[in-house]
Amino acid sequence: MIIILLLLLAYLIGSLPSGLWVGKLFYNIDIREHGSGNLGGTNTFRTLGKKAGLVVTILDILKGTAATLLGSLAVFEAANVHPLILGIVAVVGHMFPIFAGFKGGKAVATSGGLLLGYNWPIFVILVIGFFIILKLTKMVSLTSMILAIVAVLYSVIYYFTIDNDWPLIIIVLLLALFIFYRHRANIKRIKAGTEPKVTWI
Ligand code: G3P
Repeated sequence: MIIILLLLLAYLIGSLPSGLWVGKLFYNIDIREHGSGNLGGTNTFRTLGKKAGLVVTILDILKGTAATLLGSLAVFEAANVHPLILGIVAVVGHMFPIFAGFKGGKAVATSGGLLLGYNWPIFVILVIGFFIILKLTKMVSLTSMILAIVAVLYSVIYYFTIDNDWPLIIIVLLLALFIFYRHRANIKRIKAGTEPKVTWI
C-alpha cells in the first residue's frame, strides 16, 4: 500500500506544472499560448525570458531528482523495486500532468533530474554536453535528442566498465524514447528548416 501511495506521490510531483504556474503567477501569461506551446523550460525562456526560464528548468529538474531520491527509500529496496521507477513515474507526470489537463513538457529536464538523483556524473556530462551541442546546433530540441542518445551510450559504457547496472540502460532507453516521441513536432520542423534557433550562445 505504501508503495502505491509513494508512486502516486511521484506522479503528483512530476505533474507540478512549474512553467504554467510561474507564467500565470508572476507574468499573468499562459506559456501554452506562446512559442512552441510547450510547458517546459525552453518555451519559458522563449516566452518569459532568462530568469523565468532558468527557474522553471531548475524546478523541472528537481521534480525528477526528488522522485528518484524517494525511490531510494528502504521500502522500495525491501520490495525489490528499482529507485528509478519513481523517477520514471515523475517523468510521466511531467509529460501528462494532472494539474494541467494532461498536456505537459517534453521529458528533458525531469529526465535529467532523475539521472542527477541516481548517478550524478552522467548529469554533469549531459549539462556540459548541452552547452557544447547547443553551441553547434543552436536548437534546444535537437540538442535534447542528441543528449538522449549520449545518455544511452553512457549507460552502456558504464555497464561494461564500472557496474553491471542493466536497469539503468533500460530506463535511459525508455527516457530516450519518451524524448523522441515528445519531439515529433520539433523533428518535422527541423526537417523543414523551420525549427527556432537560439541566439544567446
Ligand atoms: O525541452 C524541450 C526542448 O527540447 C524543446 O522545447 O519549446 O522548443 O519545443 P520547444
